[in-house]
Amino acid sequence: MNCGFVRALQGNQSSKCQTLIRSPASNTIAPLSPDFQPVVPAAAFFNADGTLYSQRFDDIYASSQGALAQARHVFLNGNGLPERWNRDDSFTIVETGFGAGFNFLAAWRALREASPAGTRLHFVSVEKHPFPLTDLERCHERYPELRELTEQLRGLYPPLLPGFHRLHFDGGRVTLTLLFGDAAPMLRQLHARADAFFLDGFAPAKNPQMWSREIFAELARLAKPGATLATYTVAAAVCHGLTDAGFAVEKRAGFAHKRQMLCGRFAGAGSDSVARDDRRAIVVGAGLAGTSCAQRLAERGWSVQLIERHHAPAQEASGNPAGLMRPVFSLDWNTHSRFTSAAFLYANRHQTALEHLGCGPVHGDGGVLQLARDANHFDKQQRIVEQFALPADLVKVVQSRTAARRGPMGSARWRRRRARHCAGCRARERRHGNPVFAGGLVAIAAGARPGQPDAPTPGTKSQDCSVQGRLCNARNRGNALHWRQFQ
Ligand SMILES: Cc1cc2nc3c(=O)[nH]c(=O)nc-3n(C[C@H](O)[C@H](O)[C@H](O)COP(=O)(O)OP(=O)(O)OC[C@H]3O[C@@H](n4cnc5c(N)ncnc54)[C@H](O)[C@@H]3O)c2cc1C
Ligand SMILES: C[S@@+](CC[C@H](N)C(=O)[O-])C[C@H]1O[C@@H](n2cnc3c(N)ncnc32)[C@H](O)[C@@H]1O
Repeated sequence: MNCGFVRALQGNQSSKCQTLIRSPASNTIAPLSPDFQPVVPAAAFFNADGTLYSQRFDDIYASSQGALAQARHVFLNGNGLPERWNRDDSFTIVETGFGAGFNFLAAWRALREASPAGTRLHFVSVEKHPFPLTDLERCHERYPELRELTEQLRGLYPPLLPGFHRLHFDGGRVTLTLLFGDAAPMLRQLHARADAFFLDGFAPAKNPQMWSREIFAELARLAKPGATLATYTVAAAVCHGLTDAGFAVEKRAGFAHKRQMLCGRFAGAGSDSVARDDRRAIVVGAGLAGTSCAQRLAERGWSVQLIERHHAPAQEASGNPAGLMRPVFSLDWNTHSRFTSAAFLYANRHQTALEHLGCGPVHGDGGVLQLARDANHFDKQQRIVEQFALPADLVKVVQSRTAARRGPMGSARWRRRRARHCAGCRARERRHGNPVFAGGLVAIAAGARPGQPDAPTPGTKSQDCSVQGRLCNARNRGNALHWRQFQ
C-alpha cells in the first residue's frame, strides 16, 4: 500500500477522469496445494547454427531463418496483421507458448509502426517453462534491432511464479498477460475475447499436449465471432481438431523451408460480448481502492467520475503517509497467497510506472523484512519457500548471521539492533523455558530485486519505523513487538 497512488492520480489524472468532491458529512503442516505447480524453468540452449533449441522437447523454438521473420510471416500475416489494426480499438491476441517472446515483440513492433495511435494491443500468452531473466537476455541479444523492446520486456518480466502476470508497456497501449503454467489448466481460468490466436507450442509430434482437443475447445470458448488463428503446423490431427472445435481452416504457403502453414477463422457464435460503446463509470470513494479503479479505467479510455464525501482524496484509511506492501504466503498456497502475490508484483510494476511518469518517489526499493517469531514460524516460512520453489527475486530466507556480515546488515546500527533483539530472545527463553529461534535470527525479505543485497536496508524509504510499527499493530501484535525492537 502506498499513498503515492493517490498523489499520483491527483497529479496525473487523465482528462477523462474527473474527481467530484462532496462536502464533509495453527502450525499444522498442510499438504502441497494441488493447484500450485512450481515453475520448472527452461534453459537457453543454441544449436550449432545459433537456433534456440529446447532439450526438453527436442525441438527448435523458431525457424533457423529467424524468429522475427517467422513471426511476421506465420503469426502476423497469417492473422491479417497489421492490416486489421486500422481502428481506434483494442485487439486481443492469445498465444500458446510464450518462449522468449519473439512473437509478442514482433506484434508490439508492428503495432508501433503500422497502426493508428488509438489501437491498443492485449497480448495473452501461456508458458509452462518460462526462461529465467538471464537466459531470456541471451535469447534477446541475438536481435539487437529489438533492443529497446527487449529491455523493456525484461525490465518488467515477473519472477517465475505460477499464475497470471500482467505487464503494461507504452503507457498502457500494450498489455502483456503472461500465464505461467500448463496451457490447459491456465487457459481454463482465462476470461478473454480473442481476435486472433498464435498457436506456437512446438511440433505436435514432439509436444501433443499443446495440441489437444481440450486446448482447442478452450480457444473456441475464448474466440470472438470471426476470430482468426495461425500456426506453422499442418498436421492432420491439428486440422481436424481445430475444425471440430469450430474453426474453418485453410493451408497457405509456409515460412522458409516449410511448404505450408495453417490459418483459420472461428465460424461459431463466439464468446459473449459486452457492449463497450458507452465507456462511462462512476467510482464511489477516493481511497486507494477507488483511485486505483478510476486510474485503471481511465487508462483504458473510460470516462470516470470519482465521488468522495470528504473535501480531498485519502482522508480515511488510505490517508497514511506511507505503507508496507508484501505478499502473504501459506502452506497450502491458498487464494489469499495467490491473490496477494499477484497483486504485490503488479503493484510494484505499477508504482514503478507511476514513478517514470514523474509521480515519485512512490515506493522504496528495500523490500520487506519479516522476522520469524519462533522456531515453528521459521520452519513454516522456510518450508513454504522450499516447497513451492519460490523464486529468489520474490522472497529469500536470510540468516542474520550471514546477512550481518554483508552490506547494510553489517552496519554498526544493525549489529546493535540484532544484539538487543537476541538479548530479548534469551530473556524470553529464560522466562518460558523454550528456544525462541532455532538458528539465530531469521528474516525473510520479500520484494528484493536481482542485484540487490540479500537483506533489505533498514531505514530506507519504505521502512519508515513508525509506519511499520503501525502496520504490524494492525495485523499482528507479535510481529509488531519484534519490529519495534529493530526500528
Ligand atoms: C493505521 C493504518 C495503517 C495501515 N498500514 C497499511 C500498510 O502498511 N499496508 C497495507 O497494505 N495496508 C495498510 N493499512 C490498510 C489500508 O490502509 C487500507 O486497507 C486501504 O487504505 C483501504 O483503502 P480503501 O480505498 O478500500 O478505503 P478508504 O481509504 O477507507 O477509502 C474509502 C473512501 O470512500 C469514501 N466513502 C465511503 N462512503 C462514501 C459515500 N457514501 N460517499 C462518498 N464517499 C464515500 C470515504 O470517505 C473514503 O475516502 C493500514 C490502515 C491503517 C488504518
Ligand atoms: C515454439 S516455443 C514458443 C516460441 C515463442 N512463441 C516465441 O515467440 O519465442 C513453444 C513454447 O511452448 C511452451 N510449452 C510447451 N508445452 C507447454 C504446455 N503444456 N503449456 C504451456 N506452454 C508449453 C514451451 O516451453 C515453449 O516455450
